Amino acid sequence: MPQTYLVTGASRGIGAELVRQLAARGDHPLATLRPPTAPPPGAVRTLPLEVTDQSSIDALARALDGAGLDVLINNAGVSSQSATLALTTAEELARCFAINATSPVMVAKALLPALRAGSRRLIVNVSTQLASIANNSGGSSYAYRASKTALNQLTVCMANELRPEGFTVVAIHPGWVKTDMGGPKAPLTPGQAVAHILATIDRLTPADSGRFLNYDGTPMPW
Ligand SMILES: NC(=O)c1ccc[n+]([C@@H]2O[C@H](COP(=O)([O-])OP(=O)(O)OC[C@H]3O[C@@H](n4cnc5c(N)ncnc54)[C@H](OP(=O)(O)O)[C@@H]3O)[C@@H](O)[C@H]2O)c1
Repeated sequence: MPQTYLVTGASRGIGAELVRQLAARGDHPLATLRPPTAPPPGAVRTLPLEVTDQSSIDALARALDGAGLDVLINNAGVSSQSATLALTTAEELARCFAINATSPVMVAKALLPALRAGSRRLIVNVSTQLASIANNSGGSSYAYRASKTALNQLTVCMANELRPEGFTVVAIHPGWVKTDMGGPKAPLTPGQAVAHILATIDRLTPADSGRFLNYDGTPMPW
């Protein structure tokens, strides 16, 4: 039975590849983009979304118009220009928190009615291994790390609150992937990473809710 997925930040990188592979296997990917970006291959529908703009999020929810949504993948994200304490500014922290932590929650909140009308009730927040406090031995990327750590905490909050309704909410590290963000030295192509991510998503059950997982489904340390 084909499922409807909404993927944020689908203009390029991991988001575009998620849409391509979902379409190739017969699912129904809805791709959100910042206009005037061209739609990625495979999208059954593209919807405009600037994730930091509440009116844009509200318009996205209205555009779904009562249609059921099976899976939300909060993929849109940014890395930071805050490699050291000296380079970390309040503005850069606020920018990363707005896009990487606040927006996924606001999008999930707005799309809850659509998710409740769907069959899977699954929210996937794309996190990063750099969010792990346990694994942080190198410092760097202050704003990126901290904003994604906040996303992990918010993932657990949503998982706990929505568990009685049968929701599954997880945070997933997508791997180090050759994209504009991951750079050319990354070991995984978007195709390889997304194949693993979709296999992991397919195996998720409500018992996994609140977990932080690697792209291959193994647990990540908090
Ligand atoms: N690549 C890696 O190695 C890696 C590793 C760990 C985690 N991740 C995570 O994986 C996700 C995807 O990363 P990627 O490598 O595919 O990055 P990417 O190639 O830089 O693509 C980022 C995507 O997010 C969208 N986006 C950024 N800010 C947005 C905003 N304010 N509103 C709407 N869309 C916005 C971009 O849209 P525009 O094209 O309009 O800018 C683009 O579609 C991110 O959450 C990232 O943190 C990536």
